[in-house]
Amino acid sequence: MSQMPEKAANSWLFRPNPMVQWWFKVLTILVFLGILIVWGIDGWNVGNFRKDFVVIKLNSTHQYLKKTHQDLTPLDVSLQSNVTFQEDLAKPQENLVPNLAPETEPVNINVGPHLIPDDGNLANLPSPSTLDWISAELEGNFSSNLLAGWLAPGGEPCRDSKSVEITIPSLDGQEKIELACGEIHEFVFQALDESGNPHCLGGDYFETDLSGDSWKFRPLVKDLGNGAYTISLQVHPDFPGDYNLSIYLLFRHYEGLKFSPERFAFDKKLRTIPIKFLQSSARLPEISQCQKSDLTRDVWSGRWTRHAKNENCLISNDGRYRCLEPNFPCQHPWCDGSLGLLESNGWTYSAHCSFKLFSPQTAWDCLANRWIFFWGDSNHCDSIRNMLHFILNVTHIEAVPRRFDMNITNPVNPNQTVRITSIFNGHPNDTGNYQGLNSLKNEGYRELLKGYFSGETVPDSVIMNSGLHDGVFWSNLRTFIKGAEYAAVFWSEVVEGVKRRGLVAPEIIYRTTVATGGYARRLAFNPNKMEAFNGVVLDKLRQFGAVDRVIDDFDMTYPWHYDNRCNDGVHYGRAPAKMRWRDGQIGHQYFVDLMLCHVLLNALCAR
Ligand SMILES: *[C@@H]1O[C@H](CO)[C@@H](O)[C@H](O)[C@H]1NC(C)=O
Ligand SMILES: *[C@@H]1O[C@H](CO)[C@@H](O)[C@H](O)[C@H]1NC(C)=O
Ligand SMILES: *[C@@H]1O[C@H](CO)[C@@H](O)[C@H](O)[C@H]1NC(C)=O
Ligand SMILES: *[C@@H]1O[C@H](CO)[C@@H](O)[C@H](O)[C@H]1NC(C)=O
Ligand SMILES: *[C@@H]1O[C@H](CO)[C@@H](O)[C@H](O)[C@H]1NC(C)=O
Ligand SMILES: *[C@@H]1O[C@H](CO)[C@@H](O)[C@H](O)[C@H]1NC(C)=O
Ligand SMILES: *[C@@H]1O[C@H](CO)[C@@H](O)[C@H](O)[C@H]1NC(C)=O
Ligand SMILES: *[C@@H]1O[C@H](CO)[C@@H](O)[C@H](O)[C@H]1NC(C)=O
Repeated sequence: MSQMPEKAANSWLFRPNPMVQWWFKVLTILVFLGILIVWGIDGWNVGNFRKDFVVIKLNSTHQYLKKTHQDLTPLDVSLQSNVTFQEDLAKPQENLVPNLAPETEPVNINVGPHLIPDDGNLANLPSPSTLDWISAELEGNFSSNLLAGWLAPGGEPCRDSKSVEITIPSLDGQEKIELACGEIHEFVFQALDESGNPHCLGGDYFETDLSGDSWKFRPLVKDLGNGAYTISLQVHPDFPGDYNLSIYLLFRHYEGLKFSPERFAFDKKLRTIPIKFLQSSARLPEISQCQKSDLTRDVWSGRWTRHAKNENCLISNDGRYRCLEPNFPCQHPWCDGSLGLLESNGWTYSAHCSFKLFSPQTAWDCLANRWIFFWGDSNHCDSIRNMLHFILNVTHIEAVPRRFDMNITNPVNPNQTVRITSIFNGHPNDTGNYQGLNSLKNEGYRELLKGYFSGETVPDSVIMNSGLHDGVFWSNLRTFIKGAEYAAVFWSEVVEGVKRRGLVAPEIIYRTTVATGGYARRLAFNPNKMEAFNGVVLDKLRQFGAVDRVIDDFDMTYPWHYDNRCNDGVHYGRAPAKMRWRDGQIGHQYFVDLMLCHVLLNALCAR
């Protein structure tokens, strides 16, 4: 691992942080280990210290080596990769694209490369006080603007050609690209057709990634509508170092939104551009811990940062990666709590605000005597189980089925009980699939849902998503918009009904759908379509006043969606297992879903 900046590595040692003082005795040892981990092994000649550490950490290896191949069975994946669907040729394909518009005030956006002078003199950079974070916004009237854009004529000269390449005038051909940390760097790129000519239509879906050893983030792409796009990069000044900027062309001209998009997938990596981000004196506003009022943003543009790394971390027999001590602390301001409990080998996610990571005690103190109602796809089943096992320390519930309703008691304090209810929304029958929001057309199913909101007590919070099943069901975006509107009206009536009876209305938390990973990027629930659908549902929920908080799980999962290390294609929270995973390796990473569980708790518990 490349070195963490010195300031960052040590700041939590000396900061007058109450948590650190509270844990001081434990930390005296951990700090020592922490330095070894953070400073890596290439930084210091740590000799015997390192060996000692390795011995401690590798304790489970022996068992691992003894393990036979008997449990290397493939995992059952409930949404299979090679399901195929008949394309209904009678229906016109409507192709629409989400528009992520960068925030309207163009604060200090630099067009063109901001190359650093050879002598590394940063004195001419803009004054620190002017810098701001990159942020994304959902375009106003999202659904109707999409339809209007689709219906607008134009682009005839390029109707018959398709993008196959891009050119990035200010980056292509550069030997050594160096950019300053802190600033937002915006570059224009142009799509090219088979003959190498500029393509003059927008709507291509580019996947973008900026990754270094301890910073992973999705650079924002803006479609200018004429075949030109902009891409915006930013790295916080605490994370200088080597990065790769990768750009993939996944779908051309809205083709990811088709009913059966697989055969249209282009899925080609167009660039891997090494970029060195240089230390600068720039300052960005410090992100603060999320308050309830922060969790209303429609679209997030967060990043994963890494604050420790155990190079020798191995999977344990129960399929877990306990790479850091359980109470290895978060580093301010990127998270607050025990980073070790996330089992992410040092990674954490933050957005426009940062998240508290809960201990069993703090989570129980928040959830006690509450009723949380989930409505969504099988990803919810995984997240609920993970929240019970990893955060609430309730391990006797081995699996959470598609319909689940239980009063759960804190194993160490019988006074604390939470009711968790979860109703699958992939199909009105919990053994079915691929109906999504259309499930609400079934009267029995609607009555089932309403039943939970018609008693003397009703759920305190509803956590919902529109699932991957919607990606399969709807023949085009226009019909999905109608389905989303139906769902929004349904939920607003449920909430109104509760209010009319003089009860406190449940708070509705909308959790966007995951970015599907690896092979699933090409399928009916590909990221292009899911991102558009996420926007449509949110737009409709807002229109009918049926949403209070937003959690952008699409943004959280996105940096990990290029392969199947952290997902099986469609789930990020499958139970840990030391078995052969989708990508052929033994075991899989589940921390992306654990992070979501903590973020959900932030939404439920923050003030
Ligand atoms: C290592 O494993 C042994 C038995 O397998 C156990 O007794 C011991 O506590 C473990 N040590 C650590 C540091 O986990
Ligand atoms: C998926 O495809 C492979 C090979 O084409 C086949 O062996 C396998 O049975 C298929 N799986 C399903 C669930 O259809
Ligand atoms: C959204 O639509 C309404 C009514 O059609 C219009 O008044 C409003 O200006 C639109 N807002 C945006 C941001 O387009
Ligand atoms: C960038 O990508 C190359 C391979 O394409 C890889 O060898 C290198 O380690 C990557 N660098 C970083 C900082 O991830
Ligand atoms: C979870 O509960 C077990 C006992 O059931 C206990 O040994 C363990 O320390 C608890 N974990 C946490 C993080 O509190
Ligand atoms: C949970 O407890 C509440 C209140 O005691 C009760 O009304 C409800 O039926 C219980 N639910 C389940 C699934 O046990
Ligand atoms: C549970 O509540 C009872 C009565 O209110 C109290 O006496 C007891 O100390 C509580 N137990 C815990 C673990 O808080
Ligand atoms: C759900 O589907 C299963 C089989 O697909 C069927 O046996 C069952 O009767 C259905 N349940 C309802 C309530 O329709």
